[in-house]
Amino acid sequence: MKAFFCRAYGGPEVLELREVETPSPKADEILVKIAATTVNSADVRVRAARFPRGMGLIVKLALGLSGPRQPILGTELAGVVVEAGKDVRRFKMGDEVFAFPGAKFGCHAEYRVLQENQRVFLKPENLSFAEAASISFGGTTALHFLRKAGLRAGEKILVIGASGAVGSAIVQIARHLGAEVTGVTSAGNIELVKSLGAAKVIDYRSENFAANGETYDVIAETVGEHTFRDCVNSLKPGGRFLAIAADVPDMLAVMWSSPLYGKKVIAGPAAETAEAVWQIGEWAGAGIIKPVIDREYSFAQLPEAHAYVDTGRKKGSVVIEVSR
Ligand SMILES: NC(=O)c1ccc[n+]([C@@H]2O[C@H](COP(=O)([O-])OP(=O)(O)OC[C@H]3O[C@@H](n4cnc5c(N)ncnc54)[C@H](OP(=O)(O)O)[C@@H]3O)[C@@H](O)[C@H]2O)c1
Repeated sequence: MKAFFCRAYGGPEVLELREVETPSPKADEILVKIAATTVNSADVRVRAARFPRGMGLIVKLALGLSGPRQPILGTELAGVVVEAGKDVRRFKMGDEVFAFPGAKFGCHAEYRVLQENQRVFLKPENLSFAEAASISFGGTTALHFLRKAGLRAGEKILVIGASGAVGSAIVQIARHLGAEVTGVTSAGNIELVKSLGAAKVIDYRSENFAANGETYDVIAETVGEHTFRDCVNSLKPGGRFLAIAADVPDMLAVMWSSPLYGKKVIAGPAAETAEAVWQIGEWAGAGIIKPVIDREYSFAQLPEAHAYVDTGRKKGSVVIEVSR
């Protein structure tokens, strides 16, 4: 099969298309022919070794010192089951599935094996392969942080970076939970963010949300440009700050924010659970979450997709069409 290898940390030019052996499923595994995958912020962070301030060495020790130990990136996929191990019960050949290997990566290839009991589910029928491939990364991250925040109906939430993969999912899920959503984005994305359910949208180039006197129960920061201290006066008493793109100082604020301010900082990696992937699939199948796809690229154009995601300007997801 063909697969893109990330042979060292660096720019999109470190990605190399190689011919490798197609993996064989073990007894409890399925082999999926990938129809679509995505290039997301996790892929480009790993490729470029662009890790949160203060965490570079720790993350490189975990991922690989001179390049990723798992050289095939790609966290999410949709495709067709083409082989099933002898003990597999949940799937059969021909099933259309979507999956979220997440931090295990390995989706920038023509095929991937998956354990049947891991984060893989039947594709909602109303979604295309491109749409189904695009929902898990942003959706499960959004769900993790909103659950940690305990967001309730009637509460007010500010979503900084409301047009990104994570932000666009937070807007939709928060709205579904009955919260009043304000999105922060640039002028060109205002209509998109409103269409996802935001009651108000702030253009960050013309208005400073931290200085307009509004306060929120929850602030979700998905950009990494605003610390808890920057936002503390925009949080109501008992408010929660979701430091989704946190660096070390904000992670440390988890310890002192409550005793000092009576407000909570929530940070750290989102748990990648099968239940969360299932829930996102259910909501997408029911039309509660709309997949947001910015651009689609062919498999051969995957390095171009990385270059686009590197700009930090993508809206929702960038999809790679691997096979038809
Ligand atoms: N903690 C975790 O487990 C976890 C999991 C997933 C992701 N993350 C992190 O979460 C962050 C967001 O990920 P993502 O995939 O959603 O990123 P993304 O899709 O690449 O985000 C791009 C979006 O950010 C917006 N943006 C850029 N600067 C902005 C600003 N100053 N104010 C408001 N919006 C701004 C852009 O809108 P404009 O073009 O309008 O500026 C663009 O639409 C990343 O740092 C990622 O590493 C963390």
